[in-house]
Amino acid sequence: MARVLRDSYGRVADDLRISVTDRCNFRCIYCMPAEGLKWLGREEILRYEEIRRLARLFVERYGVRTIRITGGEPLVRMKVEELVGMIGELDPTLDITMTTNGVLLAGKAEKLAAAGLKRVNVSLDTLSLDRFHDIARVDAFAKVMDGLRAAEEAGLKPIKLNVVVMKGHNDDEAVDFARLAREKGYEVRFIEFMPLDGDGIWKPDLVVPSQVLQERIEDQFPLVVLQEDRPAPSHNYRFADGAPGGVGFISSVSQAFCTTCNRVRLTAEGGLRTCLFSLHETPLRDLMRGGASDDTLGHVIEAAIWQKEEGHEIGQAGFIKPAKSMSQIGG
Ligand code: 5AD
Ligand code: SF4
Repeated sequence: MARVLRDSYGRVADDLRISVTDRCNFRCIYCMPAEGLKWLGREEILRYEEIRRLARLFVERYGVRTIRITGGEPLVRMKVEELVGMIGELDPTLDITMTTNGVLLAGKAEKLAAAGLKRVNVSLDTLSLDRFHDIARVDAFAKVMDGLRAAEEAGLKPIKLNVVVMKGHNDDEAVDFARLAREKGYEVRFIEFMPLDGDGIWKPDLVVPSQVLQERIEDQFPLVVLQEDRPAPSHNYRFADGAPGGVGFISSVSQAFCTTCNRVRLTAEGGLRTCLFSLHETPLRDLMRGGASDDTLGHVIEAAIWQKEEGHEIGQAGFIKPAKSMSQIGG
């Protein structure tokens, strides 16, 4: 029986997000600066073998059940489907998902599904061609739509859409997204804008509380709450009239879910982060490259998780924005 990764507040980490690259082919305004960032060098990022080793520890020793591959944009890393296959071989019952901006998905969906990917989360913040460029700062709307279609055809279901909501940019599209969810059977997740952007544009006024979006949607499409087996960061709903798909709300700012957080993150350079807003991370790469045993790595991981912070303090006087942006942390 595997041990679990417990922190000093009693939470158990069983959801591992692995960033495979800090690079991205988009420049979303809520994430990256327009000019991009200084990328990590080839030697600085973990090799697939190294990621597999850490994933194995998390799964076999500590009972992690969900692995999410993120970036940057994970599909810009060469042959990422091979990594999916390597992780899938650890345990065929693992829930392996990927969070992607979708622009390269059309060419990869089949390969990813064949390698053992179960589902995808596609980031899509607007259904308007013009706005797409204002938010992602590239013209890729049509390609992302192709990617969604390919994901469906490859059976990567249910497809989840991540919508980062920013006041004045896309908050008037909640009902349109709900309509799309119903038409396509997608699960749309509205995410409150968090202060993790590369340009430093975040301010409380740009956050639209989930409650507001939910009310707008319910005016058109009554919702029924889904009871989750255990506390989840998103509050999920299905449509009362039985239409397919659903909507969910991730209220990271207005209603933080830190008390039930089960997440832990590995950055592309092999840093363990216990919180999106961590001000420090635990570097594992050089330990591994220095020949550390699984036991040594395990002790370091256990100690890091034990120290997991109680929660973030967005909006409070003591809040300090981490030096890294979302693309460097992994969503
Ligand atoms: N606030 C909220 N969500 C964000 N994401 C990226 N930056 C932010 C931010 N500042 C989301 C992306 C992606 C996921 C990994 O994180 O949309 O779906
Ligand atoms: Fe790239 Fe995702 Fe950041 Fe957008 S949110 S710039 S797609 S990493």
